[in-house]
Amino acid sequence: MQEYTLRDGNKIPAIGLGTWKSAPGEVGQAVAWALESGYRHIDCAAIYQNEVEIGATFKKIVGKQISREEVWITSKLWNDSHAPEDVIPALKKTLFDLRLDHLDLYLIHWPVAFKKGVVFPSSAKDMISLSSIPVSETWEAMEEAAKAGLTRSVGVSNFSRKKLEDLLSKTSNPPVVNQVELHPYLAQKSLLTFCKEHQIHLTAYSPLGSSDRAREMKKAEEPSLLDNEVIAALAVKYNCTPAQVLISWHLHRGCSVIPKSTHQGRIQSNLQSADIHLNTEDLQRIESLDMHFRFVDGTFFELEGSDYRNIYDE
Ligand code: A2P
Repeated sequence: MQEYTLRDGNKIPAIGLGTWKSAPGEVGQAVAWALESGYRHIDCAAIYQNEVEIGATFKKIVGKQISREEVWITSKLWNDSHAPEDVIPALKKTLFDLRLDHLDLYLIHWPVAFKKGVVFPSSAKDMISLSSIPVSETWEAMEEAAKAGLTRSVGVSNFSRKKLEDLLSKTSNPPVVNQVELHPYLAQKSLLTFCKEHQIHLTAYSPLGSSDRAREMKKAEEPSLLDNEVIAALAVKYNCTPAQVLISWHLHRGCSVIPKSTHQGRIQSNLQSADIHLNTEDLQRIESLDMHFRFVDGTFFELEGSDYRNIYDE
């Protein structure tokens, strides 16, 4: 499996299994299929509310059929635990649920803070301004977690270039990863260039368009990535699936990618995207699809009366 070496020297496998939206009763089996098929990177988060089931699979497989060192496991700090004193307890809860003694990567899930215990805010009263808990203070606690050996690497997710610049101005130890929505409709070239300059590796979420999102999270007319004509034509040309074209594109751009599936055949074939080599002209055809379209636009955090607006700073 292709890997990328992060600025801290750790190596992240290029393709991981996404577990956002993987249903209870399915996710444990999906992770088992993934590990058995050769995945060595599993992407988790406390807010996905499925870490206990994933932990049961890890207990059966990791450290037994596959050594712990071979598997890269990411999880994410939920928005209700940004207070510095809440970071290590939140990470320890995730470790307990996942049945691990350390993570490979822990990410600040969003540049958004909620009051402790809030899963999702129903009004601005549930939210906390980032002027009360600056991201830089949460970041210091993330660094402490790494120093304590609870995670090998630390990073962020859903951070714009502006938010990265703010954080970079306040720390001598910047995030090694920024996990963001990335796909041909949202190629984020300037963010990618900035991150490369600062040795911040990008991981792509929603690489297939996340069409299994809850209805409330969807817009009326969303473009389909998997049905796109250019992608379909390339799938024919390279004798592969549209999903494999979409996944392979990230590897050509130097990004890791975490397609989600709970179907064994798709889990297997998504991993085989690493064998597809798109030529320069076809990579350009894919780049030309960019329309800066977000499936996950973050407006669900823009509650009236809160100071969260335009969280991607664009
Ligand atoms: P399923 O889990 O039923 O396989 P994303 O990774 O962008 O969040 O997209 C996940 C969605 O894409 C899920 O609905 C998932 O369905 C579907 N999916 C995953 N792999 C494939 C594939 N190879 N072909 C078509 N759809 C796929």
